[in-house]
Amino acid sequence: MKLISLLLHLAVCAFAQNSSQPNATFTNPVLPGWHSDPSCTHVNSTFFCVTSTFEAFPGLPVYASKDLRNWKLVSHVWNREAQLPGVSWNTTQQQQGMYAATIRHHEGEIFVVCEYLGLPGGIIGVLFRTSDPFDEDAWSDPLIFHPDKIDPDLFWENGTLYVATQGIVLQKLDMKTGELSKPTSLWNGTGGVWPEGPHLYKRDGYYYLMIAEGGTAEDHSITIARSRQLYGPYEAYEHNPILTNRNTQRYFQTVGHGDLFQDEEGAWWGMCLATRSGPAFEIYPMGREAVLFPATWEKGQWPVLQTIEGRMNGWPSLPTKNRDVPGDGPFNSDPDAYDFEAGSKMPKNLIHWRVPREGAFKIGSEGLEVTPSRTNLTGIPFGPVELSGQRGISFIGRRQTDTLFAFSVDLQSKPQQPNHEAGVTVFLTQVNHIDLGVVYLPAANATGGQLVFRFRVESQNVPIPVPETKIVPVPADWKASALRLEISTSNNVTYEFSASPVEKPEAAINIGTASAQLVSAGNGTFVGSLVGAYATCNGAGEGLDCPKEERVVFKRWRYTGKGQQIADAEIIQ
Ligand SMILES: *[C@@H]1O[C@H](CO)[C@@H](O)[C@H](O)[C@H]1NC(C)=O
Ligand SMILES: *[C@@H]1O[C@H](CO)[C@@H](O)[C@H](O)[C@H]1NC(C)=O
Ligand SMILES: *[C@@H]1O[C@H](CO)[C@@H](O)[C@H](O)[C@H]1NC(C)=O
Ligand SMILES: *[C@@H]1O[C@H](CO)[C@@H](O)[C@H](O)[C@H]1NC(C)=O
Ligand SMILES: *[C@@H]1O[C@H](CO)[C@@H](O)[C@H](O)[C@H]1NC(C)=O
Ligand SMILES: *[C@@H]1O[C@H](CO)[C@@H](O)[C@H](O)[C@H]1NC(C)=O
Ligand SMILES: *[C@@H]1O[C@H](CO)[C@@H](O)[C@H](O)[C@H]1NC(C)=O
Ligand SMILES: *[C@@H]1O[C@H](CO)[C@@H](O)[C@H](O)[C@H]1NC(C)=O
Ligand SMILES: *[C@@H]1O[C@H](CO)[C@@H](O)[C@H](O)[C@H]1NC(C)=O
Ligand SMILES: *[C@@H]1O[C@H](CO)[C@@H](O)[C@H](O)[C@H]1NC(C)=O
Repeated sequence: MKLISLLLHLAVCAFAQNSSQPNATFTNPVLPGWHSDPSCTHVNSTFFCVTSTFEAFPGLPVYASKDLRNWKLVSHVWNREAQLPGVSWNTTQQQQGMYAATIRHHEGEIFVVCEYLGLPGGIIGVLFRTSDPFDEDAWSDPLIFHPDKIDPDLFWENGTLYVATQGIVLQKLDMKTGELSKPTSLWNGTGGVWPEGPHLYKRDGYYYLMIAEGGTAEDHSITIARSRQLYGPYEAYEHNPILTNRNTQRYFQTVGHGDLFQDEEGAWWGMCLATRSGPAFEIYPMGREAVLFPATWEKGQWPVLQTIEGRMNGWPSLPTKNRDVPGDGPFNSDPDAYDFEAGSKMPKNLIHWRVPREGAFKIGSEGLEVTPSRTNLTGIPFGPVELSGQRGISFIGRRQTDTLFAFSVDLQSKPQQPNHEAGVTVFLTQVNHIDLGVVYLPAANATGGQLVFRFRVESQNVPIPVPETKIVPVPADWKASALRLEISTSNNVTYEFSASPVEKPEAAINIGTASAQLVSAGNGTFVGSLVGAYATCNGAGEGLDCPKEERVVFKRWRYTGKGQQIADAEIIQ
């Protein structure tokens, strides 16, 4: 009896010890790939974060975690056209749409506020709510309001909702009517450009106002001020910034735009954005990613945030690893292995550029059936409006979430009409993408065979030469076969594009090689690369339609991470 209770005691101690993992470390980014401007909250033993998505749809992904390292994609706040009819199709530029959001819980519900840029009438504010963040359909239609500035925060006190925005200004928001009170200037920051991304926290009789400053590139930082009254005056902390990697040699740059939250034990944590580029700040195809940091915040004191690096010290309160999170989405580190079996649901992590045309993507009896768009990925040319890509590009992709990876998809059907094309792409914006297409070239074309592989790069605003288009005829004995199209990385800065018949992967031929700098910044400094598949007829046809409906079928979608660079000379699995 004694022995049993001793053993039990030992087991419990071992467990208790592991639950606080003395000097546990973790690695950043915890949400790798394009996940900018994270905002997070903790409720019901679960952490929830939302990140910016600009034009991508569905947008505003919500990730849930029990252990701060395994984050499951549980829903998208903006997931149906009916929530904001016509809005996506009215958005012209590449970096408009859903900017930085804030997520908070209040009286049993979760709220996400954001603002949408790029409409003819200016900015709109959107406030969504749900009582079940694990159910995509449960997200409400938004309450629409009309702020002057971006980056709204959510802060309730005495039954009133206060929204601070870029500037930094504070307004009351009427949750029934969307009416905003007159703005009051709270703080202009410490002199960096773009004081924005404000979050208010009340603690020990102070209102703390934490903001981002210095712009979202190399000079980015987090600064803080506090006041005894909500409307100020705010006193800036004398040791600002409280977090930045500017003027350092660190591999993680652009550190800023963060949010703070407490775990079950009351320990403080934060998430912010960072870019894995090193100080050269030239090659960073994944854009701005979300990183985690521990914080200490003693009573009456200013918070102290741990510097962002690839390896972080999670001692003393890093929660035990736990993947017991509800919902049917993938964890951030999961590979994709999608066969698009009839009746299966569209995988949650696959997204589009703007709201797609109704019915353009469907999982049917043969696989993922895609109706090609008349506009290609770039838009033909940039206007007339309906062919700019605004009314739906037939593109579907997932974030590049690993420095090294392999992505492939099987193209079951072949383009059969002049200039019809289906392929794979690394896509940053409509004017920064690298494509490997299977194209049906008109017989008259002097380049020979009708069915060809075409490697084509569109990349504006990059400081390196854009590779020439390459055309390789599809070998005659491959024509009866489905074709496997693959994008992989030969090193931390280079993509390889190859093709093979699905029955003979060993016969793969390399069609093109491209630098990841072609999809770093360019016309998309706020966004990050997606890898995926597309189908287009390159402008043939009329209106929004290709000449004759020709469904393109994809199957066997695979994405596998092969390595994460977390320091200048360190790649981990
Ligand atoms: C706790 O960690 C120790 C040392 O790593 C290990 O031997 C033990 O099995 C762990 N206990 C539990 C309950 O996970
Ligand atoms: C863990 O590291 C901290 C310093 O980061 C140190 O104070 C503490 O004693 C260490 N704990 C253990 C159990 O080694
Ligand atoms: C979209 O733009 C058109 C033309 O400018 C305008 O009439 C319509 O109201 C806009 N819709 C939305 C939702 O902004
Ligand atoms: C937390 O759990 C309680 C009890 O199950 C529930 O009523 C509440 O809605 C949950 N809160 C959130 C934000 O999910
Ligand atoms: C909320 O009410 C408390 C108690 O009356 C008061 O001290 C506080 O200033 C109020 N907060 C705001 C923002 O008005
Ligand atoms: C911030 O700057 C604006 C414009 O110069 C000024 O009107 C405002 O009073 C300033 N706010 C604070 C809190 O100093
Ligand atoms: C014919 O091939 C050339 C490449 O040699 C290509 O640039 C051109 O677009 C092709 N023409 C058509 C109509 O596809
Ligand atoms: C790309 O950026 C350049 C320079 O800022 C701008 O002139 C051009 O309009 C942009 N193109 C698109 C499609 O956004
Ligand atoms: C898109 O289509 C237009 C018209 O056919 C063509 O000029 C352009 O090169 C195409 N761009 C890409 C990247 O396919
Ligand atoms: C690629 O690797 C080299 C050498 O390990 C490193 O110096 C460089 O910073 C890395 N570049 C990127 C963009 O990760």
